[in-house]
Amino acid sequence: MAEIKVPVIFVIGGPGSGKGTQCEKIVQKYGFTHLSTGDLLREECNSGSERGTRLVDIMKKGQLVPNDEVLALLKEVIQKNLSNSNGFLIDGYPREAGQAVEFENQVCKCSFLLFFDVPDEVMKTRLMERGKTSGRADDNEETILKRLDTFHKHTQPILDHYGDKVKKVEASGTVDEIFSKVTQIIDNCKC
Ligand code: AP5
Repeated sequence: MAEIKVPVIFVIGGPGSGKGTQCEKIVQKYGFTHLSTGDLLREECNSGSERGTRLVDIMKKGQLVPNDEVLALLKEVIQKNLSNSNGFLIDGYPREAGQAVEFENQVCKCSFLLFFDVPDEVMKTRLMERGKTSGRADDNEETILKRLDTFHKHTQPILDHYGDKVKKVEASGTVDEIFSKVTQIIDNCKC
């Protein structure tokens, strides 16, 4: 892959922590390219491909899709946007420390990580509310609990791996309160 000279920001946090919501606002203000691994995987599922059919089952169980599938999708879309992007927001990646290592070996170093930290109860309430209309196969109580469990099992090693590169945002307030913390981080970042 060609050299990437723009910021690459990993956006992590539990299910319903507001990653997608904040990424939309970051895109409006900074013009970055938003790549959500969840959205890319759902597109693949909806395509009806053989690979998509396999992924549906994993996602319905709230488990992690194998990284070779996720990284292949990410590399493809980064390559496609490389010539006209101000920076990349990689939303929902890495989900485990091995994903971080593979990305940095195969693509580039990340500039920093935005980590949205939200209590489980708040995340669950948000997702149960969204589940009334989202149509997402994983927005039901059983799968939400599994997604939370997967998140807790895998996240600490990522935080340990990145140390000071992790910018933690307490993210249980309003969308605008959280966004104001996010802009301070991005504006102060030397990337
Ligand atoms: P993914 O689609 O990434 O789902 P998720 O991480 O569970 O998170 P969500 O997208 O549901 O929530 P979010 O944090 O973006 O919050 P949002 O802004 O939407 O992944 C789905 C699945 O794909 C995974 O379980 C896994 O199987 C697979 N997968 C994905 N990436 C993978 C990877 N790298 N490797 C392996 N497998 C992978 O907000 C949620 C709701 O809350 C919305 O209704 C929103 O309006 C509301 N809300 C947001 N902020 C606030 C606020 N401040 N106050 C009140 N409500 C709010």
